[in-house]
Amino acid sequence: MKAIVLAGGNGSRLYPLTQVSSKQLQAVFDKPMIYYPITVLLAAGIQEICLISTPQDLPRFRQLLGNGARWGVSFDYREQPHPGGIAQAFLIAEDFIGKDRVVLMLGDNIFSGSDDFPRALSQLQEGAAIFAYHVSDPERYGVVEFDQNGLALTLEEKPARPRSGFAVPGIYIYDNQVVEIARALRPSPRGELEITDVNLEYLRRNQLRVHRLSRGFAWLDAGTSTALQEASAYVEAIERRQGIKIGCPEEAALVRGFIGIEQFEALLQNMPDCEYRTYLKNVAAESRRLGGVK
Ligand code: TTP
Repeated sequence: MKAIVLAGGNGSRLYPLTQVSSKQLQAVFDKPMIYYPITVLLAAGIQEICLISTPQDLPRFRQLLGNGARWGVSFDYREQPHPGGIAQAFLIAEDFIGKDRVVLMLGDNIFSGSDDFPRALSQLQEGAAIFAYHVSDPERYGVVEFDQNGLALTLEEKPARPRSGFAVPGIYIYDNQVVEIARALRPSPRGELEITDVNLEYLRRNQLRVHRLSRGFAWLDAGTSTALQEASAYVEAIERRQGIKIGCPEEAALVRGFIGIEQFEALLQNMPDCEYRTYLKNVAAESRRLGGVK
């Protein structure tokens, strides 16, 4: 299974923050936003990741993330010259996907919680899987209605009268049909290749599964100043209360066994003395105490 992280777009709702730095490089409490989706992917066991962003911002992501070797993964990079829609990712990364299945994750979505993703990943053999999250304002999102077996019944983009309270978050799992489906898409009236149209095609093929995210799960998107602030406050509250970090790729790489404890400790040597490093030092000590990976 491979993954694409989509981190382009205009970020116009975050202007002027996004004038010189991309949305997905903004801080969410104590880390760059992009750390959160990347950590979710690592924690789900995915090691081959392609990051797509604008020609201006891509060098910054390379600088931040490198080739991934230090975390035991590989990062590929592709440019999206213009924001032609979320589903354009499958065309831009077609050669990266090859014959594999692929997860698409939006770079401004922040998740925290249970094992729902790894479970859904391991279950998907054929077709597509999306997630359903109950929200108070479903009309702002793609809204999905599903039966008790988790088969999607209807899917509508920003409906005036939602048929359910379940919104579709920015993480999607597809088999290899997605490339062929994306190739056949035509731009919507707003000029974009829409991810909802990809999902509707899977629905038409009776191959769209819906996993309801559990109640304790948190899904935040950080597309507006208020949402960004709320995401930071959420991360801070959890981290202070529990003494654990959300969105820490080094820790996910260690826990998943992508890197061993020696490589993990070597990472610390190149970090300045800071709270993040102190946390990782504690993770290393705990891992050694338990005699291996936590
Ligand atoms: P949006 O929040 O819909 O768009 P945006 O990021 O351009 O923001 P704004 O509406 O404030 O101008 O995008 C959701 C995510 O998908 C975000 O991480 C950016 C990414 N994206 C792309 O990378 N390319 C695209 O063509 C589009 C439409 C979105």
